[in-house]
Amino acid sequence: MKILVTGGTGYIGSHTVVELQNQGHQVEILDNLFNSKITVLDKINQITGQTPVFHQVDLLDYQKMRELFASTHFDAVIHFAGLKAVAESIEQPLRYYENNVTGTLNLLKCMAEFKVNRIIFSSSATVYGNINSGKLDESMTTGVDITNPYGETKHVIEKILESEATSRPELSVVILRYFNPVGAHISGLLGEDPNGIPNNLMPVVMRVAEGKIKELQIYGDDYNTPDGTCIRDYIHVVDLAKGHLAALKATDTPGAKVYNLGSGKGSSVLEIIKAFEDASGKPLPHHISDRRPGDLAEIFADPSKAKRELDWQTELTVADAMRDTINFLNNQK
Ligand code: WQD
Repeated sequence: MKILVTGGTGYIGSHTVVELQNQGHQVEILDNLFNSKITVLDKINQITGQTPVFHQVDLLDYQKMRELFASTHFDAVIHFAGLKAVAESIEQPLRYYENNVTGTLNLLKCMAEFKVNRIIFSSSATVYGNINSGKLDESMTTGVDITNPYGETKHVIEKILESEATSRPELSVVILRYFNPVGAHISGLLGEDPNGIPNNLMPVVMRVAEGKIKELQIYGDDYNTPDGTCIRDYIHVVDLAKGHLAALKATDTPGAKVYNLGSGKGSSVLEIIKAFEDASGKPLPHHISDRRPGDLAEIFADPSKAKRELDWQTELTVADAMRDTINFLNNQK
């Protein structure tokens, strides 16, 4: 298929482009390069031998995006593009709603006009809100007590996609709720490389390992968990990317479907630190600090629906993710 990947130079997007090309799909990337680098195209080429066609377009530039859809036919869209910094979204809600929601509306209008009838959407476990914790499955309530505008935009976009699938019976929508993506491509050429100050655990761990940040702050060790630190479901980004290939097959049938993409196993912050230290052979400087508002003690996926319906499950471990992250870091030097 010819597939348009929005946000395709980003962390999860670029790993997905590699897997799509490995499966023989023709990939074009639409990205505004706000939180990614154009050099990723060359890294993708080094891995697969193909450089994806690249369009530097912002989802808010409706006319330019419409010209792209008018110029060629896409069989499917995989939609990653969006702002994703939780803390920043609390300070800048209007920017997050405009960028993520209006951008998606522009994309969906182009898809309707040019009869592109398959979309896979990058959603997040954050849509389960703070009323659900522990093992989360797709039947649970979403959209209640989401603690940040970023998560709210993901929930709103899920609702928009479900409504559009109802109004356009030929449209197939697959919503993928990611848990905590970590790791890097085994080649060491692709990995998490956000611009600016990272929020998530692993990019901070990476900055500490590089000496750019002095110590990792552990946000609280007084939670009701075995070692007192929060538990999350860390999924290797290559497993996550392969989940999109499995989802692509599910777009053969119209309607809207939702799947958790997670390992089904939880790891605590201290366990992640230990796994990183085991992989690097060096201690990672860290200390306990105050809790971060909004953090839940334990969240991990029930991945059984994706296993049952997509025949997909994670194959890589947290140890693999730490090994590949360190390899990526060493490759940056
Ligand atoms: C993981 C754990 C922190 C940083 C977020 C978003 C969610 C999704 C995934 C996009 C928590 C602890 C972190 C640090 C720490 N993003 N931590 N020190 O909060 O589970 O989910 O990322 O879809 O939308 O909410 O991930 O990586 O921020 O935190 O102790 O410097 O690491 O307390 O327990 P989180 P995270």
